Amino acid sequence: MTDFNGKRVLLIIGGGIAAYKVLELIRRLKERGAGVRVILTQAGQQFITPLSVGALTHERVFTDLFDLDDEREIGHIRLSRQADLIVVAPATADTIAKMASGLCNDLASTVLMASDKPVLIAPAMNPKMWDHPATRRNVKQLRADGVALIGPEEGEMAEEGEAGIGRMAEPATILAAIEERLAALDGNQAGQFLKGRRAIVTSGPTHEPIDPVRYLANRSSGKQGHAIAAALAAAGAEVTLISGPVTLAAPDGVTTLAVETAEEMLKQVEAALPADIAVMTAAVADWRVTEAATTKIKKTGKAPPALKLTRNPDILAALAAHSNRPELVIGFAAETNNLLKNAQAKLAAKGCDWIVANDVSATSGVAGGVLGGDANRVHLLTAAGSDAWPEMSKAEVASRLVQRIAEYFGDDRPRRRDEAEAHPS
Ligand code: C5P
Repeated sequence: MTDFNGKRVLLIIGGGIAAYKVLELIRRLKERGAGVRVILTQAGQQFITPLSVGALTHERVFTDLFDLDDEREIGHIRLSRQADLIVVAPATADTIAKMASGLCNDLASTVLMASDKPVLIAPAMNPKMWDHPATRRNVKQLRADGVALIGPEEGEMAEEGEAGIGRMAEPATILAAIEERLAALDGNQAGQFLKGRRAIVTSGPTHEPIDPVRYLANRSSGKQGHAIAAALAAAGAEVTLISGPVTLAAPDGVTTLAVETAEEMLKQVEAALPADIAVMTAAVADWRVTEAATTKIKKTGKAPPALKLTRNPDILAALAAHSNRPELVIGFAAETNNLLKNAQAKLAAKGCDWIVANDVSATSGVAGGVLGGDANRVHLLTAAGSDAWPEMSKAEVASRLVQRIAEYFGDDRPRRRDEAEAHPS
């Protein structure tokens, strides 16, 4: 159990039936030595009282922007400055809308506007409200502003007969997200986990030329792969990111190599060996045009050209079977149906250690869609079984995955060679 060691969390409790669960969160934060100060909104007070919150925090609970005593004693500026992390739970559709548009007409929204501290929100609302285009827009805006989200999760609502995505993440899940944020703030601690480890990450699509101006491609944005490379580097790993064509900036502290085709990607991956960790996130084209034309194919007077395709190398499978195999090889499985079954089959077929499976169908329920969007909902499949993670930003998927990788290497694993023998391919 991590000790939060006096780190300070400013918790804003919004109005929603899930507010009662936040009492449990406060208890657990205090147990671990975090300082917890609470702002209870007017709507929040319809569900829990300042008295019950204060009994757990052993501190005054803040409720009103125009309480002159508070302004004199502490003020909204100091309230935000004295926190390491601001957590909003439950974050209602109303709070999210206010945050997205920069409104500040009560203590909670004013503190959020007056703060430059990292913010984590745990949304909770009726599934219809979560799905509403206005909430979609607001959540997208918050993510772009750097706000981290945990949940919401799928399940039964308080309203009878209502189910879907909208339940607040459980206190334990929010606690884990807080732990990650606080660890990430603690540069020294985060820097130690994967120090001395080498990692290779692939990202983005590949472009397979048809002629000098045309190519075959796919909708991958590279956001997830780039976020993983950045998170590995933040945890101290020496990272080589091999990326197909994307419009993203190269992450800080990462050696980024730009490639176009699957064959180039494979060549660079092999050149980057040896490594301890490989995370193959790229959406590599399965086929390439057998003989790309060297001049632009003309459309005049002829039937459309017949494109003859050749199978591209499978980089993940090649790496998993490589004589210099990284100790931990992780693949991705983007599926539109039978997610777990297909991902399980892929784990076996590719010979990798873990698979991160994500539903990229239009019905995945993920805000903004997974392909090209900022959010993801994944399952992590390992030999030990599968873990379903709630919807979170791609940056959070990256940091959770890196946390799992750090745990894997945490017990002084044997060196690459020994481990390669334990994974015959
Ligand atoms: O077979 P499929 O494309 O669904 O497998 C996905 C996983 O395999 C991803 O990790 C992807 O990066 C990797 N892959 C690869 N080379 C290919 C095809 C997929 O590395 N040619």
